[in-house]
Amino acid sequence: MGNGVIIDGFPSMEEIKKANGWPTEKRFAKGPVAIAECVQEIPCNPCEGACPSHAICVGQPITNTPQVDREKCTGCGLCVAACSGLAIFVIDKTYSETEATVSFPFEYLPLPEPGDKVEALTRGGEYRCEGTIVRVMNPKRNDHTAVVTMAVPKEYIDDVRTMKRLNAPKEETVFEPVIPDGPIDDDVIVCRCEEITAGEIRKAVREYKGESVTEIKRRVRAGMGLCQGRTCGKLVTRIIQEETGKKPNEILPSTDRPPVRAVTFGELAGAKEGGCGDE
Ligand code: SF4
Ligand code: SF4
Ligand code: FES
Repeated sequence: MGNGVIIDGFPSMEEIKKANGWPTEKRFAKGPVAIAECVQEIPCNPCEGACPSHAICVGQPITNTPQVDREKCTGCGLCVAACSGLAIFVIDKTYSETEATVSFPFEYLPLPEPGDKVEALTRGGEYRCEGTIVRVMNPKRNDHTAVVTMAVPKEYIDDVRTMKRLNAPKEETVFEPVIPDGPIDDDVIVCRCEEITAGEIRKAVREYKGESVTEIKRRVRAGMGLCQGRTCGKLVTRIIQEETGKKPNEILPSTDRPPVRAVTFGELAGAKEGGCGDE
């Protein structure tokens, strides 16, 4: 079941099926197929351009959740490494009589090797069963994200989505907070929805003495886009922090609003819009 991405930090099966759909057993029986588990309406679409078979569609607006055309998908796995949210998996239920494979993105070193026995974990990081590494791919275009393929007993394949790190620290390890190693460059786009750079936000903090996320939003529109600041809010806070020396908990967050979407006359008239492959 699960409580969903907002509460648990990973999507529930219900959320995935609603946002991205799920392959039929008939499709699973044909061989490997990609499953996007990307349930939030964020401005993101590298998966769409990464697929050589044009099987993934985000379309317009860019906050649509991705849809996989299962008939076009060959299960090649290129979208797994290309997904910036590490939210795409390839499932092969035809691997053997008793086992199925899951291909997942993996960004820890050392990488496992084919034949390794590892601990197979659920979306939430819980141990589910033993897994066997079948393949490790390092696509050139995304060489910091390996695509690891792991075989597990078929009954666990809908749950298992990653493996335990080979050099995972002990449970009691306390992590130090990661300190960013320098300010964000001025020309980096921080708010992707409104295309606002770090330099513009910095200028708003300096010139208008903007010391809260809402003030910056009103000055330069960062946070007013389709995702309503879900993507850029933390970075805006970080820039205010860098410029003012305030602690993050002293910087007032943005006032949350329900997502607002522009509605075209075509949509009001019932015409479908924004789908990939629309004429
Ligand atoms: S697995 Fe390959 S064919 Fe299928 S959606 Fe991903 S990139 Fe496209
Ligand atoms: S690249 Fe990944 S996170 Fe971005 S829209 Fe596609 S599936 Fe979602
Ligand atoms: S990135 Fe969406 S509103 Fe800023």
